[in-house]
Amino acid sequence: MEQIIFATKNKGKIKEVKSILHDFEVISMEEAGITLEVIEDGKTFIENAVKKAKEISKVTGKITMADDSGLEIDFLDKKPGVYSARYLGENTPYIEKNNHILHLMENVPEQKRSARFVCAIATAFPNGKVLTTQSTIEGLIAHEIKGENGFGYDPIFFVPEKGKTTAELSPEEKNNISHRGKALKKMKELLTKEEEMSH
Ligand code: IMP
Repeated sequence: MEQIIFATKNKGKIKEVKSILHDFEVISMEEAGITLEVIEDGKTFIENAVKKAKEISKVTGKITMADDSGLEIDFLDKKPGVYSARYLGENTPYIEKNNHILHLMENVPEQKRSARFVCAIATAFPNGKVLTTQSTIEGLIAHEIKGENGFGYDPIFFVPEKGKTTAELSPEEKNNISHRGKALKKMKELLTKEEEMSH
């Protein structure tokens, strides 16, 4: 298969994508020399991922993969959801966003603290075909900030099976069970099938 552009500026994501999709030649937007900004105005993670992948594939004429992810907290009507990056303002430090959520969840009992990270991935081909996958990791909103790894909402996302927040897991441990890791592995299967069909 030809090169695949992965539409993100996030270096951590690119590293993860390259390691999971090691059978494919994945390049970043930077490596492809693209600076296009796509407005994420979809109502769902899938809509945003498809929009990004399609627009960039259209401009570059290359196979393009894009993702969209976020945190859904059931007690907060699935907020921050697709607005996870923009919640309380794009430039607000996560320590503030996380403390605000902990405050909103104060005195909320364990059984009502359910939450999940969601990740949608779309791959758009120059002929207009689009493949999509979506995966989640289920957890609970913790009672305090814990852990130094990861990013974003990881320090308040507690995974009961591990007895830890995702910020306390090593990158490998997190990739194995995470929304993004699982959605990428599903996408890898779809791409492998696609490649087999084209031979
Ligand atoms: P995007 O997918 O890059 O648009 O960003 C989604 C936002 O969701 C991030 O900026 C984080 O706030 C949040 N998010 C998505 N995945 C994770 C994760 O694995 N850990 C912590 N926060 C995440």
